[in-house]
Amino acid sequence: MQQPILELQNLGMRFGGLELFSGINISVSKGEILGIIGTNGSGKTTLFNIICGIYKPAEGQVIYHGKDITGLPPYKIARQGIGRCFQMVVPFESMTPKENIRVARANAGRYGKGIELSVEEIMELTNLTDKQDITTNNLALPDKKNVEIARALACNPEVILFDEVSCGLSGEEIGERMKLMKQLAKKGITIIVIEHIMMFIKEICDRVVVLHAGELIAQGTPQEIIQNPKVIDAYLGGRKL
Ligand SMILES: Nc1ncnc2c1ncn2[C@@H]1O[C@H](COP(=O)(O)OP(=O)(O)O)[C@@H](O)[C@H]1O
Ligand SMILES: [Mg+2]
Repeated sequence: MQQPILELQNLGMRFGGLELFSGINISVSKGEILGIIGTNGSGKTTLFNIICGIYKPAEGQVIYHGKDITGLPPYKIARQGIGRCFQMVVPFESMTPKENIRVARANAGRYGKGIELSVEEIMELTNLTDKQDITTNNLALPDKKNVEIARALACNPEVILFDEVSCGLSGEEIGERMKLMKQLAKKGITIIVIEHIMMFIKEICDRVVVLHAGELIAQGTPQEIIQNPKVIDAYLGGRKL
């Protein structure tokens, strides 16, 4: 088996008296789409914050290409090729989508060791080609979310973390997100995606990790996950998903 691109080893996290992740292990292979699901407060965003260097874990390591990157500052982790899209969008509102992409590329793209897509390709993938001359504050929320994704792609990521980017979108817009993620995976970009929409997870993920109350309760294919009694219990108090 090839070496995983990213590994979380024996991870533990503490916020004061609150302990999360008692030594969990997760690994991701190149080009894989890994889903992370779990009820509110189960630790999904915290996991991303540990990967990106925003939080330092109390125990364990983040290994990227075989090297320990635990606790490096977020900008260094981004430059090594781990990109991120946040749950809350914060694009540069006074700039057009294209300018947003250019700023991101000028800052991080020249360091990014990952996969370089052209500005035009990024605009196309994120459905922004027709909107390139509109300032971002005049765009609707789904397009602002696309600008956020476009900015992350401009940094040449090799791994990209999506935190509930479908939140608040229509069925059609969610379909576009699924298509985009599949296209990125085809280009060799590894994706870790937090989503609460089961259909999304079932449709695009190769593998799924389920968190519950700060613990990893299951890992497997989407099919295995939706039949797993522990998952059914955590989500629906025993009723079938
Ligand atoms: N900076 C922090 N300080 C204290 N507690 C935190 C902090 N960040 C997250 N938590 C706690 O950790 C738990 C997991 O949070 P989070 O990772 O945001 O959950 P999720 O993204 O799965 O909804 C929650 O109980 C949350 O209150
Ligand atoms: Mg969250």
